[in-house]
Amino acid sequence: MKVLAIATRKGGVGKSTWTQYCVTTLFHILYKKGKKVALIDFDDQRSLANKRAKEIKSKQVVEALSEIFEDYEERLKNLYPLYTFGYQEYLEKYDKLQQHFDYIFLDFPGRIEKEQKAILETIDKVAIPIVADELDIESGVSYMKMCDTLNIKCGWFLNKEANTTFNRRIKATAHENYFQKANPNIEKIPGKESELLSIRERPEMYRKNRSTIIPFDDPEQNVYHLIKYLIN
Ligand SMILES: Nc1ncnc2c1ncn2[C@@H]1O[C@H](COP(=O)(O)OP(=O)(O)OP(=O)(O)O)[C@@H](O)[C@H]1O
Ligand SMILES: [Mg+2]
Repeated sequence: MKVLAIATRKGGVGKSTWTQYCVTTLFHILYKKGKKVALIDFDDQRSLANKRAKEIKSKQVVEALSEIFEDYEERLKNLYPLYTFGYQEYLEKYDKLQQHFDYIFLDFPGRIEKEQKAILETIDKVAIPIVADELDIESGVSYMKMCDTLNIKCGWFLNKEANTTFNRRIKATAHENYFQKANPNIEKIPGKESELLSIRERPEMYRKNRSTIIPFDDPEQNVYHLIKYLIN
């Protein structure tokens, strides 16, 4: 089993959004191969579990799925599980999870607590979203340092890219001048043509396509780049 996360110390940078896209898409990619994925949500507001419950009852969602997959009924019955766990609960269930799943994704709340350390140590790879504002860069860097200390493989990508001078500067120079100094093994997650994965600011589109059931038909293939980085 591989334990994966899109995570950082900062809130509101797209962790849950991109985690959901990745898990839902990966579930469908692996479905026929009999490989199993699960999503573990450490946020006790249960927003993802509630969303799934709503989506299952939605005619529109079922119809949309039926347009993509002939075996949509079977897929609906066997959807990947979405667990809301506390940290201790996750550790207790870890061995069982390991027996059942090939990939699990962890979705953390946007704050770091001491008890997360034991959880972080179970992770194989982290993708760190960076949104280019000064505060976010700092929290991203401290997360990179922590991954180095705990020996967790990690890479970064730019999210909510806007055409600003600061954004261009981050893209051009932050990796060498800043991030590698915090974590010598940090990787640039590759996107199109192996350049740094940089996801544009597109609020409407990303809100509209969030589903725990339908794979994200991503015109820019960002979700595939993220999945590829994480599972390899
Ligand atoms: N590339 C993007 N362009 C525009 N909006 C985006 C993009 N990626 C994510 N968002 C939006 O940013 C908001 C915050 O995203 P999300 O909830 O995924 O963040 P988070 O890191 O999980 O936050 P928290 O730490 O509070 O859990 C959401 O409204 C989401 O739709
Ligand atoms: Mg979140």
